[in-house]
Amino acid sequence: MNWHERYIQQAAWTRDLREYLFRQAGLSGANSVLEVGCGTGAVLSSLETSAALHGLDLDAGALAECRRVSNASLTRGDAHDLPYRNESFDIVYCHFLLLWIKEPLKAIYEMKRVTKSKGHILAFAEPDYTSREDKPDPLAVLGKWQTEALKRQGADIGLGGRLAELFHQAGIKIVETGAIQSRSPEAMDPDEWENEWAVIESDLSGFAQREEIQKMKHLDEEARTHGTRVLDVPTYFAWGQV
Ligand SMILES: C[S@@+](CC[C@H](N)C(=O)[O-])C[C@H]1O[C@@H](n2cnc3c(N)ncnc32)[C@H](O)[C@@H]1O
Repeated sequence: MNWHERYIQQAAWTRDLREYLFRQAGLSGANSVLEVGCGTGAVLSSLETSAALHGLDLDAGALAECRRVSNASLTRGDAHDLPYRNESFDIVYCHFLLLWIKEPLKAIYEMKRVTKSKGHILAFAEPDYTSREDKPDPLAVLGKWQTEALKRQGADIGLGGRLAELFHQAGIKIVETGAIQSRSPEAMDPDEWENEWAVIESDLSGFAQREEIQKMKHLDEEARTHGTRVLDVPTYFAWGQV
């Protein structure tokens, strides 16, 4: 699995939202910006700003990849205990991060602590797999398998649905929150669809039988060609101000 390619693909899903929210949060005039859980830099490397960019991640391998695509100042560290002084950044953001965090409220408190007064906190994409919808009906089992596999990998599968509440609990004033438009399987080009299936097969290996997975892939392809495929994982964002 090429994780950088996967993260680039995920970043494409939120590009319009990020452009809008970064504009609203004043990215072009910001002095310092931090991405918590920056991974391989799919989002960090796309920022157009003169601000000093910072990225933090637990995973040294991801940071090494990130170093190849971004000039940001990178730190290996834990979102639960950010190694930055209070009020260091104008904008602090994360992207597909909080579902992987053991204590998301603690991480959000930390994001708030390192944000300057009147600064902005953005969580761009947190899915809620508990509300996933698959159609036609025989594909519902695929949704169940994938959700269960994510749970076993340590994901908090319902985080997205609690995102605004967590911001509120952390004392962050919410300016805007909502769900992003789901990516329709029919709108995917063949390469994107194959990539999506590479992720599914990797997620489900050791979890479901190979033949059963292939049966699902075939059903998915058939539904896509007949225009009957529905796949909706509500994915939430929140924009708050300190
Ligand atoms: C799904 S990836 C998203 C990466 C990047 N934000 C993106 O969208 O391309 C989640 C990232 O969070 C990092 N991560 C998970 N738990 C973390 C923690 N407690 N502190 C810092 N980073 C963490 C992982 O190492 C991984 O790189």
